[in-house]
Amino acid sequence: MRLDKTLSGVKDMRTPVWFMRQAGRYLPEYQNLRASEADFITYCLNSDKAMQATLQPITRYGLDAAIIFSDILMIPWALGMSPKFIQGEGPKMTPLAHPADSKKMDASKLLADLAPVFDAIRLTRKNLPADTNLIGFCGAPWTVATYMLEGGSSRDFERTRHWLWSDSAAMAILLNRLADLSVDYLAAQARAGADCLMVFDSWAGAVPAYFLDSVVIQPMCRIVTGLRKSGITTPIIGFPKGIGEGIIDYADQVPLEAIGLDHTINPYWADRNLPPNLAVQGNLDPIALLSGGSRMKRAVDSILGGFATRPHIFNLGHGINQHTPTHHVAKLIEYIRKTAR
Ligand code: CP3
Repeated sequence: MRLDKTLSGVKDMRTPVWFMRQAGRYLPEYQNLRASEADFITYCLNSDKAMQATLQPITRYGLDAAIIFSDILMIPWALGMSPKFIQGEGPKMTPLAHPADSKKMDASKLLADLAPVFDAIRLTRKNLPADTNLIGFCGAPWTVATYMLEGGSSRDFERTRHWLWSDSAAMAILLNRLADLSVDYLAAQARAGADCLMVFDSWAGAVPAYFLDSVVIQPMCRIVTGLRKSGITTPIIGFPKGIGEGIIDYADQVPLEAIGLDHTINPYWADRNLPPNLAVQGNLDPIALLSGGSRMKRAVDSILGGFATRPHIFNLGHGINQHTPTHHVAKLIEYIRKTAR
């Protein structure tokens, strides 16, 4: 499969490419499908519809990997938190009163409740071209914890950071619980047919440097070690968005097959500072793709140049912006395939 050589730590001159949030609202065919279900979680738990959304960007562009259509808030949902997705406002749920309340949450039916996700993976694997990877995913403990404690999206995560400083032991209970549930959830996705796993720490950039090790790096180590102990050998990509130079310690400590880089990281700097042969994924600014044109191509050149000798999966530095014209995406893929070979 097209990501495998890169994920095994060997440079593939034909740089594989896929995009975070490649299925979603910028695609007119997704808007149509999505309109068939009022509630987003209900949509995600419809295995056939989840498969269809997963396949849409593959059918349109022939990308090298598909990512299963789901959300990082499926674990809080399975724990009984009922997130609601309000257009333009993001997810909303009643926040936990205290991080240690997570101890009381019943996870005995987690895998049964999330079974439609595993069915969607099985169905998608059957309908995906044999050489296209299928990525399973979850949110990293810190990022999922921010939603559970803030009750939704946040600008500066003050409640969650306040818990960190005022009761780090209670935060550790929540983060470890989420890490252990993530192991079960990812292992089940791998057993259903996901041939790569990705852990999104989208809000790692909000973590004070003092806590980077305990809330970003160690929980991620716990997930990777837990999966390996369960016999899962599937390659794992970590994406600690926004941690800047913290990426050096993250790469050093977490035994991952690849690291996702956000668009604030200079590719030449990353190449100089990361262990040789560690695969990286990224990192074009999604707004460069929204804008398109020759500036975007020069930025692509600098990413391909920075990683010219390192195993590299082309991606964005974060998810596709919903207003992105589909022909910009087609042009970007064409340009990468022409340049990287
Ligand atoms: O193509 C894909 O990437 C597959 C599916 C996917 C979704 N969410 C679908 C989705 C993936 C991998 C995610 C991950 C996710 N979800 C992250 C991590 C990646 C990132 O962007 O940082 C985060 C932080 C979330 C939480 C989340 N889910 C938010 C903040 C929102 C609202 C913002 C938005 O774009 O609407 C969602 C909802 C969501 N997840 C949508 C989709 C397609 C839109 C909902 C809809 O169509 O009604």
